Amino acid sequence: MSDLDAAAVSELSERARKLDAADELAYLRDRFVLDDTVYLDGNSLGALPAHVPDRVADVVRREWGELRIRSWEESGWWTAPERIGDRIAPLVGAAPGQIVVGDSTSVNVFKALVAAVRLAREGGPAGAGRDEIVVDASTFPTDGYIAESAARLTGCTLRPVLPAEVPGVLGERTAAVLLNHVDYRTGRLHDLPSLTAAVHAAGAVAVWDLCHSAGALPVGLDEHDVDLAVGCTYKYLNGGPGSPAYLYVRRELQSRFDSPLPGWNSHAEPFGMRSEYAPAEGAVRGRVGTPDILSMLALEAALDVWDGVSVDAVRAKSLALTDFFLECVREYVPEGRVVPVTPVAHAERGSQVALRCGDAGEVMRRLIARGVVGDYRAPDILRFGFTPLYVGFADVERAARVLAETLRES
Ligand SMILES: Cc1ncc(COP(=O)(O)O)c(C=O)c1O
Repeated sequence: MSDLDAAAVSELSERARKLDAADELAYLRDRFVLDDTVYLDGNSLGALPAHVPDRVADVVRREWGELRIRSWEESGWWTAPERIGDRIAPLVGAAPGQIVVGDSTSVNVFKALVAAVRLAREGGPAGAGRDEIVVDASTFPTDGYIAESAARLTGCTLRPVLPAEVPGVLGERTAAVLLNHVDYRTGRLHDLPSLTAAVHAAGAVAVWDLCHSAGALPVGLDEHDVDLAVGCTYKYLNGGPGSPAYLYVRRELQSRFDSPLPGWNSHAEPFGMRSEYAPAEGAVRGRVGTPDILSMLALEAALDVWDGVSVDAVRAKSLALTDFFLECVREYVPEGRVVPVTPVAHAERGSQVALRCGDAGEVMRRLIARGVVGDYRAPDILRFGFTPLYVGFADVERAARVLAETLRES
């Protein structure tokens, strides 16, 4: 058993109870399938919304099983990528008609980055000389790998720098800049408005990866003039394992968006079966091939949980949850045993808390065995994601308490 300070446990448990009682989003937890584990891994795979299995069963049994090919039209399969894009749009601050759903984030990073270089090179000799892609040096690896390949294909040099150093390296050679809104490892939130403005001031094109921010905090794509953005839907958007990603193309850029993967789904007349390619108008240009309908319609159903939910309220609760977790960790965990690497400042914090811990892999294994599910990122990071739609303050207190107990044993 723990030898935690009983008074501290009692005080923080009571605070958690009051915070849960006052939580205006608490009712949303019932929209998900959860058990008595504390699930703090929604930043990796979001929980299952309770109504999704029935919807998927209907898609399989009726739309596929009975209507078969008719469903492309009658069940709206063909237009699902744009329709679901419009459901995601308000969650990332985009007006309709700018997001298309499909493919993985990795594939969308490729489309966006190559298209960004092509956009930057328009407009005469000044544009043509742009031969550098700047990438976040601390990025989730796939973005870095894809950026390296995009650079080779476009004859650019890849320049990996930390986000804080980006303004200092921008110049007339910069074509495109690929940044993560929230760092997957540390949970640091980068300054999207000012970095985007700096990229534009240099005449370059900004591409943002929203995997760890969409559904957890306001993004403001339109408001901040973001050019292109990508993101996954299986984290805070709860779309399910491997659910399709999305691509945002700002309206003013759509007519010039030149996809490096111009599949037939992005053709102006896909059923014209023409040998010459002519791109469709609008965000549809970001489509490639036949959409993965089962995953896509599971995602569409999952987005129902957002009906009536404000992203600002989600952000407020996310900050309250992460504040409370940091406080409980400070109170319970033996001094020096873990070091928070997530910024304390709200303006720099996403919806996760990362703790540096020597034996992080083993500690997380034991935490999971005790019903507190976070994850571990090599070499030494314990990651705890807080999905405001279904995580409560009692969960937070319990996670910190079990973490402290686990650490005291080792
Ligand atoms: C920032 C970021 N980009 C991309 C990905 C993964 O992309 P994909 O959906 O292609 O696997 C992740 C996955 O966790 C991520 O955190």
